[in-house]
Amino acid sequence: MSHDLRKIMVLGSGDIGRRVFHELAHSRHKRHVELVGRDEEALLRTTNMTRFCGLQRGFSPTVSHSTTDLVDVERTAERIAAFRPDVLFLSASYQSWWVISTLPQDAFQRLYAANYGPWLPMHLVPVMKAMEAVKLSGIEPVVVNAAYPDAVHPALASVGLSPDVGIGNVANNVPGLQAVAADHLACAPDDVEVRLIAHHYVSHRLSRRGDSGRARMSLAVLHRGSDITAELDIPGLLRRLPTEYRRTGGMAGQGMTAASALSVLEPLVNERDAFVHAPGPNGLLGGYPVAIESDKIRLRLPEGMSQDEALAINVSGQRQDGIAEIRPDGTVVFESSAMDIMSDELGYDCPEMPLTDAEGRAQEIAERFAAYRLRAAA
Ligand SMILES: NC(=O)c1ccc[n+]([C@@H]2O[C@H](COP(=O)([O-])OP(=O)(O)OC[C@H]3O[C@@H](n4cnc5c(N)ncnc54)[C@H](OP(=O)(O)O)[C@@H]3O)[C@@H](O)[C@H]2O)c1
Repeated sequence: MSHDLRKIMVLGSGDIGRRVFHELAHSRHKRHVELVGRDEEALLRTTNMTRFCGLQRGFSPTVSHSTTDLVDVERTAERIAAFRPDVLFLSASYQSWWVISTLPQDAFQRLYAANYGPWLPMHLVPVMKAMEAVKLSGIEPVVVNAAYPDAVHPALASVGLSPDVGIGNVANNVPGLQAVAADHLACAPDDVEVRLIAHHYVSHRLSRRGDSGRARMSLAVLHRGSDITAELDIPGLLRRLPTEYRRTGGMAGQGMTAASALSVLEPLVNERDAFVHAPGPNGLLGGYPVAIESDKIRLRLPEGMSQDEALAINVSGQRQDGIAEIRPDGTVVFESSAMDIMSDELGYDCPEMPLTDAEGRAQEIAERFAAYRLRAAA
């Protein structure tokens, strides 16, 4: 194997991890992709499946797998040091967003009303463990994370453990917006560029409701490089997302998330510059347009917008998502309206969470949620 083969490790072998692993391996670019998870048998089968599908399509991917449990930071560090990835993609979570949708419908609707923020520990803890392992490994890959980067990254940035950039969320609506605008202008999508600043809350709501609710967002539309936002009926275009431009949702809709992940990962792996959208760039709160330049992530805000203004827009989305504040020391303060629902439904009450409490809080949510599922099914 050549020493200059680019190496990518996908850490977390659930739905998103497997989709991204599969796509990364099916490339004309020579690279080595490793899938890492907990279940040796499942990993072996997935890796072979990806390899055989690649061969069927005329690729000859270099793929491998290895095992770790993120709770074991030393073992994860050892796996990272052994593989030496250029790029590390984190796709692990203690409880993905879709898990509550597997509850009976009425229980799901009640919990859904709490929004995403209160579940933060389920996404933050595995990322924190993975980042501790990266530090311990002595290897310095570019780290890209799928799990709630809008809030996980600013919380972990306070202790120097933020991944470099997130994927999805703000990015997941960009192609839809590009298509709506291009069709409206009767031009090719390539002639249209979108610049969106939006928190996870807004991204989630846009494709379902076609507006940003009580949160703020910023959308600029450029046609062949000229900003034409003022000439467009933006609320009217947004309303078309859940109507004429509706798309597959639920777990099958995670194909969009995987595509968003690849929009960030492919340029990083191939060392090429790109303009993309991403949440949590360099530990920032919320989602932004960003440029990837020589492996570095830089904000690309619309003309005339300051970073403080973009941050304020994202903070307004964060509040609607159920997080009142992320303090400079990483302590997360939750919105009482969201936490009241968690308390009524699960018996889980966490007004604020210092980072040192995150692991215990994740454990508590897991236990209370398991008991809730049993009650809901009875
Ligand atoms: N940014 C976006 O736009 C976007 C969109 C969709 C989803 N997401 C997020 O992406 C993340 C992954 O979602 P998903 O749907 O792929 O979830 P999933 O299918 O449940 O996969 C999660 C994976 O995490 C692994 N995991 C859990 N604890 C672990 C541990 N201690 N050590 C090692 N691995 C562990 C699980 O391993 P096992 O297989 O061994 O159980 C599982 O494979 C979630 O945070 C989800 O909310 C983001």
